[in-house]
Amino acid sequence: MYVWPCAVVLAQYLWFHRRSLPGKAILEIGAGTSLPGIIAAKCGAEVILSDSSELPHSLEICWQSCQMNNLPKVHVVGLTWGHVSQDLLALPPQDIILASDVFFEPEDFEDILTTVYFLMQKNPKVQLWSTYQIRK
Ligand SMILES: C[S@@+](CC[C@H](N)C(=O)[O-])C[C@H]1O[C@@H](n2cnc3c(N)ncnc32)[C@H](O)[C@@H]1O
Repeated sequence: MYVWPCAVVLAQYLWFHRRSLPGKAILEIGAGTSLPGIIAAKCGAEVILSDSSELPHSLEICWQSCQMNNLPKVHVVGLTWGHVSQDLLALPPQDIILASDVFFEPEDFEDILTTVYFLMQKNPKVQLWSTYQIRK
């Protein structure tokens, strides 16, 4: 597992906007080491971290990030992009979706946007804060 450069950039963006974060419902997708979500939680947001339900090691890393950063109230759920699962259905409306370095495999883009679209139906004002890296 690795903190991708995109995560550092998104974390800096969150820190810049830290005064707007307390009380916000924030979901991180494809969270991995979860740096942006951890920063958001430290700034007072109500954070849910998620990674693929088919990648238990990734979910374990999300848990470990919460434990190492003393954030027992942060929830971790398995959300596979494009899957309308019980966990996705059970999510409360979100204010912000964090997506750091998830747009790397074009064949996944539609699935990611399907998940975002589903969350937009719960809250049409939800914002997607995403960073991506151009790979050549
Ligand atoms: C390039 S890493 C980025 C990790 C982290 N967001 C960062 O920027 O450091 C991509 C992440 O997407 C997750 N992922 C890959 N395929 C996925 C899928 N189909 N659904 C949900 N998450 C997925 C991986 O487990 C991994 O954590």
